[in-house]
Amino acid sequence: MLRLPQEWFARLRPRYEGKRVCITGGAGFIGGHLVDALLSLGSSITVIDDLSNSTAAHLAGLIDIEPERVRFIHGSILDDAALVQAVEGAERVFHLAAVSSVPRSIADPERSYTVNVTGTMRLAEAARRAGARRIVYSASSSAYGQGERLPKVETDTPAPVSPYAASKLAAEHIMLAWAASYGLSTVSLRYFNIFGPRQPADSPYSAVIAVFARKLLEGKAPIIFGDGGQTRDFTYVSNAVLANLLAGSSERALAGEVVNIGAGARIDLLTLFRKIAEQCGVGHIQPEHQPSRAGDVRHSLADLSRARELIGYEPVVALDVGLAETIAWYKEQWAPEAGGAGARARR
Ligand SMILES: NC(=O)c1ccc[n+]([C@@H]2O[C@H](COP(=O)([O-])OP(=O)(O)OC[C@H]3O[C@@H](n4cnc5c(N)ncnc54)[C@H](O)[C@@H]3O)[C@@H](O)[C@H]2O)c1
Repeated sequence: MLRLPQEWFARLRPRYEGKRVCITGGAGFIGGHLVDALLSLGSSITVIDDLSNSTAAHLAGLIDIEPERVRFIHGSILDDAALVQAVEGAERVFHLAAVSSVPRSIADPERSYTVNVTGTMRLAEAARRAGARRIVYSASSSAYGQGERLPKVETDTPAPVSPYAASKLAAEHIMLAWAASYGLSTVSLRYFNIFGPRQPADSPYSAVIAVFARKLLEGKAPIIFGDGGQTRDFTYVSNAVLANLLAGSSERALAGEVVNIGAGARIDLLTLFRKIAEQCGVGHIQPEHQPSRAGDVRHSLADLSRARELIGYEPVVALDVGLAETIAWYKEQWAPEAGGAGARARR
């Protein structure tokens, strides 16, 4: 399922084969794909996840196949004892665990802050004490806020407009400070709207492509908040995985740098909606419009110059290819012949 060109696997394998890594949030959407890639590259993996926004189903399947190389700690990044176990022996730590949604952060800002900021600080401490060489932190382009200027460049002044964005930005600063104070190598990858197979579609907090696909496959009209003219740099999950693999293994002395990770192209929600409706075979369905939501930004697009220069990142899967793969996966999950909508979702 993961679409990384073979040449990348060949290049990355020597950097990861036989090495232990820790992945926080590895039961989640992006983390699960990173686990898959690192397993293919020959790493041994410890995942810590409290399953607050995921299930252990995907990991359980991997543990069945590779019991020696996949270890799962069902625990929180707020729990120091669990963290000690999670980072033990890991040269690299990929930090993805977070309360990962803007609406959820608006409903419960303290929870977002505690997990995303205090949790990150505890993880950084555990990694440092265990002698890890690098933390690759999953940051968010939401840090840029509403600024009009496009594309977003890492030197732009951050202006978070939601508790989620504020917490993700604060954790970037932890990465910077732990590099400066303790010499721990760190890097923050600011993702721009990641999508792909296994992204949950059954929660009010789900990401837009997942929600559109689910509704359309049920023959219902999805909701677009606002006029649909808002644009996003939708980025297929393989690109985010590649960025992690490159950042985790770069020979550069990374010390808290912030790096945009996107596809480097943007699309408005109405055009995206039509593409998905056609692929779902319901081109006649029109979206329902509702007022814009608090905390949503109007336009977003990544400048990838720093990603190219610093870690050699280049998006390898374009939007249309990623969309086709994603819709095919949702069809398999949600089509009536699969046992009814939702019957096999979130496996
Ligand atoms: N998906 C995107 O478009 C996107 C964009 C920008 C940044 N990010 C960041 O990337 C990371 C992964 O995002 P995702 O889309 O895979 O989200 P996700 O919610 O699927 O994954 C996050 C995982 O963290 C786990 N988790 C939550 N609180 C925890 C805790 N206290 N201890 C241990 N585990 C905990 C959840 O159970 C979940 O499995 C997050 O840090 C998110 O903020 C994602």
